[in-house]
Amino acid sequence: MDQDELKRMTAAAALEYVKPGSVIGVGSGTTVAVFIELLGAMPEGVRAGVSSSEASSEAMRSLGIDVVTLDRARPLDVYVDGADEVDPQLRLIKGRGAAHTREKVVAAASDRFICIVDESKIVDRLGSKMPLPVECVPMAEAYVVERLVALGGRPVKREGFLSDNGCLIFDVHGLDLSDPESMEVGLNAIPGVLDNGLFVRRRADVVLCAAASGVRTITL
Ligand code: 5RP
Repeated sequence: MDQDELKRMTAAAALEYVKPGSVIGVGSGTTVAVFIELLGAMPEGVRAGVSSSEASSEAMRSLGIDVVTLDRARPLDVYVDGADEVDPQLRLIKGRGAAHTREKVVAAASDRFICIVDESKIVDRLGSKMPLPVECVPMAEAYVVERLVALGGRPVKREGFLSDNGCLIFDVHGLDLSDPESMEVGLNAIPGVLDNGLFVRRRADVVLCAAASGVRTITL
C-alpha cells in the first residue's frame, strides 16, 4: 500500500469527527490536502473552515468551502491536522510545511485536536527522525542562531524561503528533546522566535494512524 492510500485512509477516518454544518479548524500539509478534498465532497458539508495556511485556505476556497477568521469562529469544536512525528504521549513535531505557528494557534483554540498520520510518523522519542522547525523574525536572524547554538542546536536555514508570516524557518538538528515541554517553552522565550514545531502543551487528543491493516485510533 502506498503513502497516498494511507493518507486517504486517515483523512477519511477524520470525517467521523466532523459535524455537518459546523465550523472546523483545518491544518496544513499533504495529508490535510486529502482531508480538504474529502471535506469538499461531504454530502452535508461544513459551514466553514478556519485555516492554518494560505495553501489550505486556497484549497478550501477552490472547493467552495468558506474560510473564516479564527476571531469569528472561536471556540472551535474540532481541529484536524497532520504531523511529522508523534510520540507515545501524543506529543508532536510539526512544521515541515512551515505552518506550525498558525497551526498551534488554531489547535490551541480548538476543543479537540484530531491528528491524521500514517505509521511512518510514529516515534518513541521526538526528534528521532527529523530536525525541529523554528520560525524566526528576519531581523533577529543572527541573534536567534546564536541562541539556538548555545542550546546545543545546529540550525539550518531554509534558503530563499519565507513563511506565510513573512518569517525565516530554521531546521534545528541536535537539540536535546528529552524534556520537550521545557524545550518548547525555552525556545519560544528567545526574542525573535515566533514559535517552534513542538506541540507538547497543546498535543493531539486523538491520533488516527493509518497502516496497511487499517486505521488505529490512539488516545491517552
Ligand atoms: C505543516 C505541518 C504538517 O502537518 C506536517 O508537515 C505533516 O505534513 P504531511 O501530511 O504532508 O506529511 O506541520 O507545517
